[in-house]
Formats: sequence, structure tokens, C-alpha cells
Amino acid sequence: MGMHNQHRAHVIVLGNTKGGSGKSTTAMHIIVRLLRLGHSVGALDFDGRQQTLGRYIENRGIFSTAKNVTLPMPSFRSVKPSLLKDLNAAQKEEHQQACKALEDLIYTHDYVVIDCPGSDSFISRIGHSFADTLVTPINDSFIDLDVIAHIDPHTFQMIQPSWYSEMVWDQRKRRKLKDNHDIDWVVVRNKLSHTETKNKKRMTGVLEQLSSKIGYRTIHGLGDRVIFRELFLLGLTLSDLKQHGLGVHMTMSHLVAHQEVKDLVAFLKLPKAHEAAA
Ligand SMILES: Nc1ncnc2c1ncn2[C@@H]1O[C@H](COP(=O)(O)OP(=O)(O)OP(=O)(O)O)[C@@H](O)[C@H]1O
Ligand SMILES: [Mg+2]
Repeated sequence: MGMHNQHRAHVIVLGNTKGGSGKSTTAMHIIVRLLRLGHSVGALDFDGRQQTLGRYIENRGIFSTAKNVTLPMPSFRSVKPSLLKDLNAAQKEEHQQACKALEDLIYTHDYVVIDCPGSDSFISRIGHSFADTLVTPINDSFIDLDVIAHIDPHTFQMIQPSWYSEMVWDQRKRRKLKDNHDIDWVVVRNKLSHTETKNKKRMTGVLEQLSSKIGYRTIHGLGDRVIFRELFLLGLTLSDLKQHGLGVHMTMSHLVAHQEVKDLVAFLKLPKAHEAAA
């Protein structure tokens, strides 16, 4: 039996070359939501410098031990930047590390979630090339939108796609040639304000108009909520808060935020685990 007949996880990649858009936070929330739905999940941190996702998962383990509670955990691997001086040698090493980490997880889990660094790098491009689903969180600002397309300030029409969109297109073409897979690109709005500002309406309009031109689906993702910042230290996500014995009080705002997380994962229209496994 060849490798291609084997079970293969569905790979979800979090990417955006803009720093701080919410990749790691969203990655962890997708991971735990999938775990809570009963799936097995592999987590891959390609941001070997910051290791936010790795630290988040570490915090989860520490919390679970300290509170003596069982929490569903992903299997974890990380890829660190190569220290080799020669560029070709460094890239070769990173590529091998990335492939090895993916291979460790892809045949034994329903899903693999990869968190990419918030900058253009060789490792980030490798991450994108692995994607079955690419999730790009963006903050509600034209500065963040500029990563996807350059917009005319007067007409709000697209002047040209940005470098990042071109890179995603390039990865899509390669994937199509490699195994005839269409990468599903989902742009997730993050840290949304709770009031309907002029900026928010404009962003909605421009994102919808660009969606067919650039080839992504877009969702009103996660609101701007302090809880998303606080849960990191505990290693928890909104999908955990209903569990007894965690000592975190669940408020109305948390319920709303959890609904957003559930809606986001549903919007990804992921193949069911048994289909992903086929
Ligand atoms: N929905 C949200 N509401 C409030 N704060 C948020 C939300 N999402 C993310 N944050 C906060 O925004 C900051 C950046 O988030 P995060 O680290 O997940 O982004 P990132 O894209 O992974 O960043 P980097 O590019 O540095 O890897 C963090 O302080 C995080 O707690
Ligand atoms: Mg990050």
C-alpha cells in the first residue's frame, strides 16, 4: 500500500504576513473546538521564534496538572528557524524539519492545524503549501486589508492584489498541479468592534467585493474581547469554559464569544473526520 492510500488529516493553516492579526489565538480556538467535537488534532507551530501556539499548549498542560482536571490535548510539534549560515542549507533544513513534523502527525490525526509566523519567510511559505484550508485572520482596519489588496482611497476599488495574495495564488497553482486540490481560503475578521462604525461598514463592503476577485470566502469572525487575551495564560479557550472544575466564571459575553468560535469552525465546512480519513 502506497502513502497515498493511507489516512491523511485535513490540514488547516493560519496565515497572514501581518503580525498580531490573531493567527495563534484563532489556531488554538480551532484546535480546541475540534478536540471538543471529538476529533484528534495535531498542532504544528511554524513560528519557531515566538512559539505562541507552543506556549499556549504548554500553559494548558500546566493548568491541567495544577487544577487536576483532564483537558483534551492536541499532539504538538514545532519547527525552529535554522541556524545554518548558508541560505540554501538553512532552507533545506527547515523544509526537512517541516515535512518531518507534518508526517509525524498527518497519518494519525483527523486534523492538523499549522500556525505560521506573522512575516514572510521560507517556513511560512512551506506552511501555506501544506494547506487544505487556509485561514487568514485580519483586523478591521485598512492597514490590515492592505495585506490582501491595495485599495483606491477614493473609490474603494482594488488597484491590485497585494504580495500576500499573489503568494497564496502561487501556492494554489502549485497545489492544483501537485494533487489537484483547491485550497479553500477563508478570511476571518477578528477583533471586531461591537458598534457598527463607518469603518466597519466600509470593510464589510470592500471585503465582499474583493472576495470573488481574489478568491476567498469571508466571515464576521471574532469580536474584540478581553477574554481572548486572558485565556492564554491558563491555556484555555472559550470551548473549555463549560467544563466543571476550571474555576472560570462563564458570562453572557463568553457565551456569545463561544458562539462565534463555533460559527467560525462550522463556516470552514471541514470534511468530517471519517471523510478526511478516507
Ligand atoms: N478576538 C480578540 N479579541 C481581543 N484580543 C484578541 C483577539 N484575538 C487576538 N487578540 C489579541 O491580539 C494579540 C495578537 O494575537 P495573536 O498573537 O493571536 O496574533 P498573531 O497573528 O498570532 O501574531 P504574530 O503575527 O505575532 O504571530 C494578542 O494580544 C491577543 O491576545
Ligand atoms: Mg502568532
